[in-house]
Amino acid sequence: MLLNIANVLDAAAITAIHNEIKSGGIVFTDGSATAGWQAKAVKKNEQASGAALDGIIQKAAAAILAHPLFRAAANPKQLVKVMLSRYKPGMAYGTHVDNALMGGIRTDLSFTLFLKEPDTYEGGALVIEGNDGDNEIKLPAGSLVLYPTTTLHHVAEVTSGERLAIVGWVRSYIRSHEDRETLFDLENAISSLRLANVDRAILDRLLKVKANLLRGWAED
Ligand code: NI
Repeated sequence: MLLNIANVLDAAAITAIHNEIKSGGIVFTDGSATAGWQAKAVKKNEQASGAALDGIIQKAAAAILAHPLFRAAANPKQLVKVMLSRYKPGMAYGTHVDNALMGGIRTDLSFTLFLKEPDTYEGGALVIEGNDGDNEIKLPAGSLVLYPTTTLHHVAEVTSGERLAIVGWVRSYIRSHEDRETLFDLENAISSLRLANVDRAILDRLLKVKANLLRGWAED
């Protein structure tokens, strides 16, 4: 399941990140240092560091983890790793699969949080490669795409402008993508029923089903 989540960061938070880059609080270096051997060969982008980076990453991580749609879809135990990356013209990240373990922690879901409006740069789509075709994703600034870490994917070459994004990985309480999707569907159905003011006893029964599926499937 691919999920687009809008407005994870607001305009003020995004402007603050751009200002830190302009003022030198964030600097960028060759990103291939943070890739494994298989990804290193195809990774051509820049990775952020600098005094302001930790604060920015912490704020973004908090906003992501607090987002109800993200919580419902990911069942996150923790964010395993979060990075800020930039692609200038000529940069791309060829087809690769992300590491299954990072620092000894399993990665279940990946996300890209876009930080530039799509009309300010050409190219730079995240392309998720599926057996039934490719999915090209390029979202408004502040929006996030969540996708299974199991996939082959690439970032198309940027041909003009700059692509700026926060990327990261999630350890979910639910290992199986199918089970995670079932819980997400159930959560959405319960939310809709709540809004429709259905009988409380029906909701209680469904909440029991949800809690016990989670209890059965969760790896804590
Ligand atoms: Ni990747």
